[in-house]
Amino acid sequence: MAATESSAGTRAGEDMRRSGRILITGANRGIGLALAGHFLARGWRVAAACRDPAGARALAALAARHPGRCDVLALEVRDAASVAALAAALGAGGDTLDVLVNNAGINPAPREHTVADVAVAAVAEALDVNLLGALRVLQAVVPLLRRSGRPRVVNISSGGGSMTRNSAPAGRPQTAYCLSKAGLNMLTVRAARDLPEFTVVSVSPGWIRTDMGGPAAELDPVAATADLATTIEQLQPHHSGQWLNRFGQPSEYAW
Ligand SMILES: NC(=O)c1ccc[n+]([C@@H]2O[C@H](COP(=O)([O-])OP(=O)(O)OC[C@H]3O[C@@H](n4cnc5c(N)ncnc54)[C@H](OP(=O)(O)O)[C@@H]3O)[C@@H](O)[C@H]2O)c1
Repeated sequence: MAATESSAGTRAGEDMRRSGRILITGANRGIGLALAGHFLARGWRVAAACRDPAGARALAALAARHPGRCDVLALEVRDAASVAALAAALGAGGDTLDVLVNNAGINPAPREHTVADVAVAAVAEALDVNLLGALRVLQAVVPLLRRSGRPRVVNISSGGGSMTRNSAPAGRPQTAYCLSKAGLNMLTVRAARDLPEFTVVSVSPGWIRTDMGGPAAELDPVAATADLATTIEQLQPHHSGQWLNRFGQPSEYAW
């Protein structure tokens, strides 16, 4: 084979490896919706999971622009039956999954409460969604990810989950959120060890203008998630167990 054909074949192979099928949780708004748009534009098949598909109008409009490549699926991450139904729908007919993005998350109000006065129920709620929800979805789709040649798991973390450089501002400690994101980071570390054939990372997306990030946040959701999508596409096995920023560099936050 001529060198040009060979390198063209290599490029085609790289393009193939850069796309595939991705599951994004919390895909109806914010970071999840913007990520779904980027992956569809880049040729991926997207399973876009949200709590209320019938009410997810922006997501439905996005899916309509990419016929046959965007499945809008119901998912309540607190509900084991909902998670199981999602996995069954995803795996129907022996279909594969290449990437899971655990994006669905909450930051319960009020965010001013400290460990001295935060409601234990608020902490439990944050853990149920941000940590246990991610664990439920991961466990449910491990068999589907094992069908992929390159299974990848991306847990959307936050500087609030850092032990040593916790980013929550004074006066607004976001206690429930921080506890849950620290747990999510440990899920990344443990999953990277327990699933050595997978690439598992935490990624901090930056402070983004979404319902959660608020209007004062520094980053535009579409622009910031373009960087995030590139990082996810370029994940390599040696990244497993790491905490990256949206550019794919080791996070500025130490664990
Ligand atoms: N924005 C930032 O600056 C920032 C910074 C660091 C990390 N993050 C992380 O990025 C992720 C996305 O945040 P965002 O800013 O896009 O937040 P957002 O706009 O508030 O969106 C949160 C998403 O999570 C979904 N969700 C919440 N609870 C759920 C549940 N029980 N089951 C299924 N889905 C659920 C929401 O669905 P509904 O519409 O049904 O509520 C929504 O789609 C979160 O994990 C967040 O912690 C965000």
